[in-house]
Amino acid sequence: MAFPQAFLDELVARSDIVDVVGSYVQLTKKGSNLFGLCPFHNEKTASFSVSPDKQIYYCFGCKRGGGVINFIMEEENLPFPDAVRFLAKRAGMEVPEEDGDREAGRKRQRLLDLNRDAARFYYQMLQQPEGRAVQEYLDRRKIRKATAVNFGLGASLDSWDALILAMTKKGYTKAELLEAGLAVQNRNGGLYDKFRNRLMFPVIDTRGDVVAFGGRVLDKSEPKYMNSQETPVYSKRRVLYGLNLAKKSKRPNIILCEGNIDVVTLHQAGFDNAVASMGTALTVEQTRLLSRFTEELVLCYDNDNAGKVATDRALEILNNTEFSVKVLQLPRRRTEDGELVKQDADDFIKFQGRDAFEALLSGSANGMEFRMAQIAGKYDLTNDEDRVSYSEEISSLLATLTNPVEREVYTARAAEAAKITPEAMGLEVKRAARRRSSQERRAELRRDLNPAAQLQPKERELRYGNLRSARAEEGILRLLTQDDSVFPADAPLRPDQFSSSLLGRAYALLWEIRAGGRRPSLAALTGQFSQEEMNHLTSVCQQPESRQNGRQALADYIRIVQAEAEKRLGGGDADPLLAATEKYKGKKGTGGKQHGR
Ligand code: UTP
Ligand code: MN
Repeated sequence: MAFPQAFLDELVARSDIVDVVGSYVQLTKKGSNLFGLCPFHNEKTASFSVSPDKQIYYCFGCKRGGGVINFIMEEENLPFPDAVRFLAKRAGMEVPEEDGDREAGRKRQRLLDLNRDAARFYYQMLQQPEGRAVQEYLDRRKIRKATAVNFGLGASLDSWDALILAMTKKGYTKAELLEAGLAVQNRNGGLYDKFRNRLMFPVIDTRGDVVAFGGRVLDKSEPKYMNSQETPVYSKRRVLYGLNLAKKSKRPNIILCEGNIDVVTLHQAGFDNAVASMGTALTVEQTRLLSRFTEELVLCYDNDNAGKVATDRALEILNNTEFSVKVLQLPRRRTEDGELVKQDADDFIKFQGRDAFEALLSGSANGMEFRMAQIAGKYDLTNDEDRVSYSEEISSLLATLTNPVEREVYTARAAEAAKITPEAMGLEVKRAARRRSSQERRAELRRDLNPAAQLQPKERELRYGNLRSARAEEGILRLLTQDDSVFPADAPLRPDQFSSSLLGRAYALLWEIRAGGRRPSLAALTGQFSQEEMNHLTSVCQQPESRQNGRQALADYIRIVQAEAEKRLGGGDADPLLAATEKYKGKKGTGGKQHGR
């Protein structure tokens, strides 16, 4: 179900993209567009553009774009209907709610209510005799009562249907339990509790809603953790465990660790700024979320190989961001038998105590020092051959530093480690930098020499089957959204003549708007396309299209599309068998998925 198009048009008209985006991003005028630092990827030079004429935004770096509603969906992390309500409130407009939208909103709320009731149930079970096993496990892990309460920890019972029974009694349906990921269906259609005999961690987002659960086994069985699947209220890329509490911390930074238990133990020890990405690599969405609450991040992953890889990947994502980043390296621990073993934050607090952790935290190295130490660790620097290899590898890392002061400081340190003069190391770094930039130039050249690849949409799924036709189709969309006065009154093409089903669909919708006497614009189409589709349509429409020969250009484009469509859909002399299969292929993609309701 959709909002009435006339309402969306008015909403878009009353939500000027420059005003809306301008309240999130500092914009500077450059030609007819405005530019700023992209809020959707991390960058130091402004490649994010806003076009007041076309009322669209587009980032030349990450290639995301759309109208004002897309911007709010992305920036505020909202589904389409909620972004519309958000903007309507801002513009002081009343939202004509349709049954379908109200229904979707109600459904979301039902899932959130169900999650909250389930969290309450697990929490209550922890206080009951049935929850004894979990309580004993918490005791063994030295998690105190007040901490458990603070995190809303709970117990799922050693039973196939304890939660299902309790929740159906409260009026929730089986379908709702399945959709929330709290129940699982067996082959005969019967339901059973997904979480059984586990310590339950409710995952609470920064708005305070219970959006998911993690459940840990009480023994050594597998899988150690079970987590909710993605649901209409949970996207794991966009949530960090513990951020609902850490966002209120008075500490100057946020500590990122690997596990739920690490977060709980750190908070208990007074580090109430700890969060975890629950076993997945840090995502760009999560860094955006974090940027609302802090400017400094401390990476505190396990000191095993997986933890090092996770640290490297996180550093890559955080490279060239506004965050200042530190790496807290947990030392390995020597057991009573003299063996060196890995530790995570929880182990460290348990064995070394909170003061030791505080000391590590204040002395934690920055990202560069961490990476340098990692490279140094691979070589025996008393060995000449190793020193040469070390110098080579470390200089490629140093060459990535663009700040000359930073480069000099770390070059001097690397020289000291390799026991060579800073001048010699400096020369090595310069060579590496030259190598790097010539590699980049070659890659650029390759891209330029292969225009066909450049013209393809970024998303594999949207790739064009007929590039010649698609280029013309793109031109038609550009003209239609920029200067539709060159078009005749009747539609010059049918949507199925478009070789790209996405472009054909956009054409059909824009034409509908025009037929209704309104000005065709991308910004009002947001609800009809996925964000990936919108990104591509925006990249198409933001390109300049000369207004001078609009009429001639349009005629040329139409001719190409018609000719290619004829070949595809079957012209007079085409092989009939081939034409039939091509026709089938052409049709397959045209269904198009509706998005966001
Ligand atoms: P860890 O194995 O480091 O667990 O996984 P942990 O948090 O330190 O737990 P303890 O101390 O052994 O009890 C880190 C995180 O990865 C996710 C969980 O969120 C866990 O907290 N994970 C781990 C899973 O999702 N599934 C698994 O099977 C294991
Ligand atoms: Mn652990």
